[in-house]
Amino acid sequence: MKKNNIILIGFMGVGKGRLARALAAETGFFALDTDDLLESFENRKIKKIFRQEGEPYFRNLEKRVAHWLEIHVSSSIISTGGGFFAVENLNRIGTVIFLKADFETILQEIFEHPKAAKKIKKRPLLQDTEKARALFDARQPLYADKADMVIDVTGRPSQDIASEIINHLKFAPLAEA
Ligand code: S3P
Repeated sequence: MKKNNIILIGFMGVGKGRLARALAAETGFFALDTDDLLESFENRKIKKIFRQEGEPYFRNLEKRVAHWLEIHVSSSIISTGGGFFAVENLNRIGTVIFLKADFETILQEIFEHPKAAKKIKKRPLLQDTEKARALFDARQPLYADKADMVIDVTGRPSQDIASEIINHLKFAPLAEA
């Protein structure tokens, strides 16, 4: 049986973490983030993990996180790193929602953000815009393939997207403890 988690997938900077927090507030679930889990497990930042160990090591950590989520986590909204969708057990962790926006919009939001420099610096795969665009193009069909629901998030407030998801999934908020 599928677990009752909601998993948000999609490209870097599309707003997975922000939406996870909005959904958590609406549902009474807690929000978790796979990058945060992996960083606390490793006690170092993603940028450092990529630099010191390389990308394959990072992808293995994602698999470990995915395994742990499948076994131990329920009733949670899980935001993921942009490459996490590739883990073999993704669909067993919960209902997968692909947040879709076009590349130009994503870039614009990142570059116009007050903390743009920080947002770019912490993402090793966003250092070269053309390489990032190629990665974006290659991943779009792969995200869609894994998704139980695809939602266009371009220019929409998180609150609005959260309501659409809750309605679509006919999601009953948890009673207050
Ligand atoms: C990655 C996305 C990042 C982070 C890592 C790799 C990717 O997460 O997991 O830098 O492969 O797209 P965000 O999607 O939160 O930026």
